[in-house]
Amino acid sequence: MAPYQPLSRSVAGRTAIITGAASGMGRATAHLFAREGAQVAVTDLDQAACDAVVAEIVDAGFAAARGFALDVSDGAAIGRVVADIAASFGGIDILVNNAGVSSFCPLDGGQDYDVIWDRAVATMLTAHQRMVRAALPWLRKSDAARIINIASTEGLGATPGNTPYVAAKSGVVGLTRGLAVDLGKEGITVNCICPGPILTGMTAKVDDADKAVFARRRTALRRYGLPEEVAHMTLNLALPASSYVTGAIIPVDGGLMARNA
Ligand code: NAI
Repeated sequence: MAPYQPLSRSVAGRTAIITGAASGMGRATAHLFAREGAQVAVTDLDQAACDAVVAEIVDAGFAAARGFALDVSDGAAIGRVVADIAASFGGIDILVNNAGVSSFCPLDGGQDYDVIWDRAVATMLTAHQRMVRAALPWLRKSDAARIINIASTEGLGATPGNTPYVAAKSGVVGLTRGLAVDLGKEGITVNCICPGPILTGMTAKVDDADKAVFARRRTALRRYGLPEEVAHMTLNLALPASSYVTGAIIPVDGGLMARNA
Protein backbone atom coordinates (compact mmCIF):
# COMPACT_ATOMS: atom_id res chain seq x y z
CA MET A 1 0.00 0.00 0.00
CA ALA A 2 1.21 3.54 -0.72
CA PRO A 3 2.38 5.41 2.37
CA TYR A 4 -0.09 7.95 3.80
CA GLN A 5 0.49 11.39 2.21
CA PRO A 6 0.46 14.17 4.82
CA LEU A 7 -0.85 17.18 2.84
CA SER A 8 -0.26 20.69 4.20
CA ARG A 9 -3.04 22.47 6.07
CA SER A 10 -1.08 25.72 6.29
CA VAL A 11 -1.09 28.93 4.28
CA ALA A 12 1.89 30.26 6.27
CA GLY A 13 4.23 32.28 4.07
CA ARG A 14 1.81 32.32 1.14
CA THR A 15 0.56 35.59 -0.33
CA ALA A 16 -3.18 36.22 -0.55
CA ILE A 17 -4.99 39.09 -2.28
CA ILE A 18 -8.45 39.81 -0.90
CA THR A 19 -10.71 42.31 -2.65
CA GLY A 20 -13.31 44.28 -0.69
CA ALA A 21 -11.35 43.52 2.48
CA ALA A 22 -12.21 46.68 4.44
CA SER A 23 -15.51 45.25 5.70
CA GLY A 24 -17.55 42.12 6.32
CA MET A 25 -16.38 38.81 4.91
CA GLY A 26 -13.30 40.29 3.22
CA ARG A 27 -12.12 41.81 6.48
CA ALA A 28 -12.75 38.56 8.40
CA THR A 29 -10.84 36.65 5.71
CA ALA A 30 -7.89 39.07 5.93
CA HIS A 31 -7.77 38.61 9.72
CA LEU A 32 -7.99 34.82 9.48
CA PHE A 33 -5.36 34.45 6.76
CA ALA A 34 -2.97 36.75 8.66
CA ARG A 35 -3.51 34.69 11.84
CA GLU A 36 -2.65 31.60 9.80
CA GLY A 37 0.67 33.18 8.82
CA ALA A 38 -0.16 34.31 5.27
CA GLN A 39 1.01 37.61 3.78
CA VAL A 40 -2.22 39.47 3.12
CA ALA A 41 -2.93 42.23 0.59
CA VAL A 42 -5.94 44.05 2.02
CA THR A 43 -7.59 45.80 -0.94
CA ASP A 44 -10.69 47.98 -1.08
CA LEU A 45 -11.93 51.26 -2.57
CA ASP A 46 -10.31 53.54 -0.03
CA GLN A 47 -6.68 53.46 1.18
CA ALA A 48 -7.57 54.67 4.70
CA ALA A 49 -10.16 51.89 5.09
CA CYS A 50 -7.57 49.29 3.99
CA ASP A 51 -5.00 50.76 6.38
CA ALA A 52 -7.51 50.58 9.25
CA VAL A 53 -7.91 46.80 8.74
CA VAL A 54 -4.13 46.39 8.43
CA ALA A 55 -3.76 48.28 11.74
CA GLU A 56 -6.25 45.90 13.41
CA ILE A 57 -4.29 42.91 12.12
CA VAL A 58 -0.94 44.36 13.21
CA ASP A 59 -2.40 45.26 16.65
CA ALA A 60 -3.46 41.62 17.00
CA GLY A 61 0.21 40.68 16.55
CA PHE A 62 0.27 39.61 12.90
CA ALA A 63 2.55 41.87 10.91
CA ALA A 64 2.41 40.59 7.34
CA ALA A 65 -0.52 42.62 5.98
CA ARG A 66 -0.48 45.68 3.72
CA GLY A 67 -3.26 47.87 2.35
CA PHE A 68 -3.75 48.69 -1.33
CA ALA A 69 -6.50 50.97 -2.66
CA LEU A 70 -8.21 49.16 -5.53
CA ASP A 71 -11.54 49.82 -7.21
CA VAL A 72 -12.14 46.46 -8.89
CA SER A 73 -14.46 48.05 -11.45
CA ASP A 74 -11.45 49.98 -12.80
CA GLY A 75 -9.78 47.64 -15.30
CA ALA A 76 -6.59 49.73 -15.62
CA ALA A 77 -6.14 49.92 -11.85
CA ILE A 78 -6.36 46.13 -11.50
CA GLY A 79 -3.24 45.48 -13.60
CA ARG A 80 -1.24 48.15 -11.81
CA VAL A 81 -2.26 47.22 -8.23
CA VAL A 82 -1.90 43.46 -8.74
CA ALA A 83 1.64 44.04 -10.08
CA ASP A 84 2.38 46.29 -7.06
CA ILE A 85 1.17 43.59 -4.67
CA ALA A 86 3.23 40.88 -6.37
CA ALA A 87 6.34 43.08 -6.25
CA SER A 88 5.69 44.02 -2.64
CA PHE A 89 5.25 40.43 -1.38
CA GLY A 90 7.35 38.57 -3.96
CA GLY A 91 4.51 36.69 -5.66
CA ILE A 92 0.84 35.72 -5.42
CA ASP A 93 -0.51 32.32 -4.33
CA ILE A 94 -4.14 32.98 -3.42
CA LEU A 95 -6.76 35.31 -4.92
CA VAL A 96 -10.06 35.90 -3.14
CA ASN A 97 -12.54 37.78 -5.34
CA ASN A 98 -14.88 39.10 -2.67
CA ALA A 99 -15.77 42.77 -3.35
CA GLY A 100 -19.46 43.32 -3.91
CA VAL A 101 -22.33 45.78 -3.75
CA SER A 102 -25.99 45.37 -2.97
CA SER A 103 -27.86 45.85 -6.27
CA PHE A 104 -31.59 45.53 -5.66
CA CYS A 105 -33.60 47.26 -8.42
CA PRO A 106 -37.08 46.53 -9.76
CA LEU A 107 -37.28 45.86 -13.50
CA ASP A 108 -39.29 49.07 -14.02
CA GLY A 109 -36.69 51.15 -12.15
CA GLY A 110 -36.22 53.46 -15.18
CA GLN A 111 -32.74 54.77 -15.97
CA ASP A 112 -31.39 53.70 -12.59
CA TYR A 113 -31.76 50.08 -13.63
CA ASP A 114 -29.02 50.33 -16.24
CA VAL A 115 -26.72 52.16 -13.82
CA ILE A 116 -27.23 49.51 -11.13
CA TRP A 117 -26.87 46.66 -13.67
CA ASP A 118 -23.60 48.05 -15.04
CA ARG A 119 -22.16 48.55 -11.55
CA ALA A 120 -23.21 45.05 -10.44
CA VAL A 121 -21.67 43.35 -13.45
CA ALA A 122 -18.51 45.50 -13.40
CA THR A 123 -17.87 45.00 -9.67
CA MET A 124 -19.00 41.41 -9.17
CA LEU A 125 -18.36 39.65 -12.49
CA THR A 126 -16.08 41.49 -14.94
CA ALA A 127 -13.75 42.34 -12.05
CA HIS A 128 -13.36 38.67 -11.14
CA GLN A 129 -12.05 37.64 -14.55
CA ARG A 130 -9.82 40.72 -14.73
CA MET A 131 -8.34 39.97 -11.31
CA VAL A 132 -7.69 36.37 -12.34
CA ARG A 133 -6.03 37.34 -15.62
CA ALA A 134 -3.91 40.01 -13.90
CA ALA A 135 -2.76 37.59 -11.16
CA LEU A 136 -2.13 34.61 -13.47
CA PRO A 137 1.58 35.24 -14.21
CA TRP A 138 2.32 34.93 -10.47
CA LEU A 139 -0.28 32.24 -9.71
CA ARG A 140 1.42 30.13 -12.39
CA LYS A 141 4.67 30.30 -10.41
CA SER A 142 3.00 29.10 -7.18
CA ASP A 143 3.04 25.41 -6.23
CA ALA A 144 -0.44 25.75 -4.66
CA ALA A 145 -2.31 28.44 -6.60
CA ARG A 146 -5.85 29.00 -5.39
CA ILE A 147 -8.67 31.22 -6.68
CA ILE A 148 -11.78 31.60 -4.54
CA ASN A 149 -14.75 33.56 -5.87
CA ILE A 150 -17.43 34.81 -3.51
CA ALA A 151 -20.83 34.56 -5.23
CA SER A 152 -24.10 34.19 -3.29
CA THR A 153 -27.12 31.97 -2.87
CA GLU A 154 -28.52 34.63 -5.27
CA GLY A 155 -26.33 32.91 -7.87
CA LEU A 156 -28.30 29.69 -7.31
CA GLY A 157 -31.81 31.10 -6.94
CA ALA A 158 -33.41 34.55 -7.03
CA THR A 159 -35.02 37.01 -4.63
CA PRO A 160 -37.62 39.26 -6.32
CA GLY A 161 -36.36 42.69 -7.46
CA ASN A 162 -32.71 41.64 -7.51
CA THR A 163 -32.01 40.80 -11.17
CA PRO A 164 -28.71 42.75 -11.56
CA TYR A 165 -27.22 41.02 -8.51
CA VAL A 166 -28.67 37.60 -9.41
CA ALA A 167 -27.27 37.89 -12.95
CA ALA A 168 -23.81 38.93 -11.74
CA LYS A 169 -23.64 36.20 -9.09
CA SER A 170 -24.94 33.53 -11.48
CA GLY A 171 -22.20 34.68 -13.84
CA VAL A 172 -19.63 34.09 -11.10
CA VAL A 173 -20.86 30.50 -10.73
CA GLY A 174 -20.37 29.94 -14.48
CA LEU A 175 -17.08 31.82 -14.56
CA THR A 176 -15.79 29.61 -11.74
CA ARG A 177 -16.55 26.44 -13.70
CA GLY A 178 -15.01 27.86 -16.88
CA LEU A 179 -11.83 28.98 -15.11
CA ALA A 180 -11.55 25.66 -13.27
CA VAL A 181 -11.69 23.79 -16.56
CA ASP A 182 -9.23 26.12 -18.31
CA LEU A 183 -6.70 26.29 -15.47
CA GLY A 184 -6.96 22.72 -14.20
CA LYS A 185 -4.16 21.46 -16.44
CA GLU A 186 -1.86 23.95 -14.69
CA GLY A 187 -2.88 22.73 -11.23
CA ILE A 188 -4.58 26.03 -10.35
CA THR A 189 -7.83 25.42 -8.47
CA VAL A 190 -10.86 27.71 -8.82
CA ASN A 191 -13.82 27.42 -6.48
CA CYS A 192 -16.87 29.44 -5.56
CA ILE A 193 -18.53 30.08 -2.20
CA CYS A 194 -22.20 31.03 -2.13
CA PRO A 195 -22.89 32.73 1.20
CA GLY A 196 -26.43 32.97 2.51
CA PRO A 197 -27.49 35.76 4.89
CA ILE A 198 -24.38 37.01 6.71
CA LEU A 199 -23.96 39.80 9.28
CA THR A 200 -21.83 42.30 7.36
CA GLY A 201 -21.89 45.88 6.13
CA MET A 202 -24.13 44.77 3.26
CA THR A 203 -26.90 43.54 5.55
CA ALA A 204 -26.38 46.12 8.35
CA LYS A 205 -29.35 48.21 7.20
CA VAL A 206 -31.79 45.28 7.48
CA ASP A 207 -33.80 45.69 10.65
CA ASP A 208 -32.91 43.14 13.38
CA ALA A 209 -36.52 41.95 13.66
CA ASP A 210 -36.70 41.41 9.88
CA LYS A 211 -33.40 39.52 10.01
CA ALA A 212 -34.76 37.24 12.73
CA VAL A 213 -37.98 36.51 10.80
CA PHE A 214 -36.06 35.81 7.56
CA ALA A 215 -33.55 33.54 9.28
CA ARG A 216 -36.27 31.59 11.11
CA ARG A 217 -38.33 31.09 7.93
CA ARG A 218 -35.58 30.42 5.42
CA THR A 219 -32.47 28.87 6.98
CA ALA A 220 -32.07 25.46 8.61
CA LEU A 221 -29.91 26.96 11.38
CA ARG A 222 -32.49 29.74 12.03
CA ARG A 223 -29.88 32.51 12.15
CA TYR A 224 -27.69 34.78 10.08
CA GLY A 225 -24.09 33.65 9.66
CA LEU A 226 -20.96 35.40 10.86
CA PRO A 227 -18.40 36.66 8.34
CA GLU A 228 -15.83 34.48 10.10
CA GLU A 229 -17.88 31.38 9.25
CA VAL A 230 -17.48 32.18 5.56
CA ALA A 231 -13.80 33.09 5.99
CA HIS A 232 -13.09 29.60 7.34
CA MET A 233 -14.51 27.98 4.19
CA THR A 234 -12.36 30.34 2.11
CA LEU A 235 -9.32 29.26 4.14
CA ASN A 236 -10.16 25.59 3.61
CA LEU A 237 -10.29 26.07 -0.15
CA ALA A 238 -6.98 27.98 -0.03
CA LEU A 239 -5.05 25.22 1.73
CA PRO A 240 -2.41 23.28 -0.20
CA ALA A 241 -4.27 20.15 0.99
CA SER A 242 -7.38 21.21 -0.98
CA SER A 243 -5.53 20.34 -4.18
CA TYR A 244 -8.27 18.10 -5.68
CA VAL A 245 -11.19 20.49 -5.14
CA THR A 246 -11.86 22.61 -8.20
CA GLY A 247 -14.94 23.91 -9.99
CA ALA A 248 -16.93 23.42 -6.78
CA ILE A 249 -19.85 25.68 -5.92
CA ILE A 250 -20.21 25.59 -2.14
CA PRO A 251 -23.10 27.17 -0.23
CA VAL A 252 -22.21 28.55 3.22
CA ASP A 253 -25.77 29.49 3.96
CA GLY A 254 -27.00 27.94 7.21
CA GLY A 255 -28.95 25.44 5.11
CA LEU A 256 -30.93 28.02 3.09
CA MET A 257 -30.57 26.15 -0.21
CA ALA A 258 -31.41 22.83 1.46
CA ARG A 259 -34.65 24.04 3.00
CA ASN A 260 -37.98 23.92 1.13
CA ALA A 261 -40.39 24.69 3.95
P1 NAI B 1 -19.63 44.49 2.94
O1 NAI B 1 -20.43 45.62 2.40
O2 NAI B 1 -19.43 44.38 4.40
O3 NAI B 1 -18.19 44.44 2.23
C1 NAI B 1 -18.04 44.60 0.85
C2 NAI B 1 -16.78 45.39 0.59
O4 NAI B 1 -16.62 45.49 -0.84
C3 NAI B 1 -16.82 46.82 1.15
O5 NAI B 1 -15.69 47.07 1.98
C4 NAI B 1 -16.82 47.69 -0.09
O6 NAI B 1 -16.14 48.92 0.07
C5 NAI B 1 -16.12 46.78 -1.09
N1 NAI B 1 -16.37 47.20 -2.47
C6 NAI B 1 -17.55 47.56 -3.03
N2 NAI B 1 -17.35 47.93 -4.30
C7 NAI B 1 -16.03 47.80 -4.54
C8 NAI B 1 -15.22 48.07 -5.66
N3 NAI B 1 -15.72 48.52 -6.82
N4 NAI B 1 -13.89 47.82 -5.55
C9 NAI B 1 -13.36 47.36 -4.39
N5 NAI B 1 -14.08 47.11 -3.30
C10 NAI B 1 -15.41 47.35 -3.37
O7 NAI B 1 -20.36 43.20 2.37
P2 NAI B 1 -20.08 41.64 2.49
O8 NAI B 1 -21.37 41.04 2.83
O9 NAI B 1 -18.92 41.33 3.33
O10 NAI B 1 -19.78 41.29 0.97
C11 NAI B 1 -18.71 40.45 0.56
C12 NAI B 1 -19.18 39.62 -0.61
O11 NAI B 1 -20.15 38.68 -0.17
C13 NAI B 1 -19.85 40.42 -1.73
O12 NAI B 1 -19.43 39.91 -2.98
C14 NAI B 1 -21.32 40.14 -1.51
O13 NAI B 1 -22.05 40.28 -2.70
C15 NAI B 1 -21.27 38.71 -1.03
N6 NAI B 1 -22.44 38.24 -0.31
C16 NAI B 1 -22.89 38.85 0.84
C17 NAI B 1 -23.96 38.30 1.53
C18 NAI B 1 -24.44 38.87 2.85
O14 NAI B 1 -25.49 38.43 3.34
N7 NAI B 1 -23.76 39.79 3.47
C19 NAI B 1 -24.66 37.10 1.05
C20 NAI B 1 -24.09 36.55 -0.16
C21 NAI B 1 -23.04 37.11 -0.79
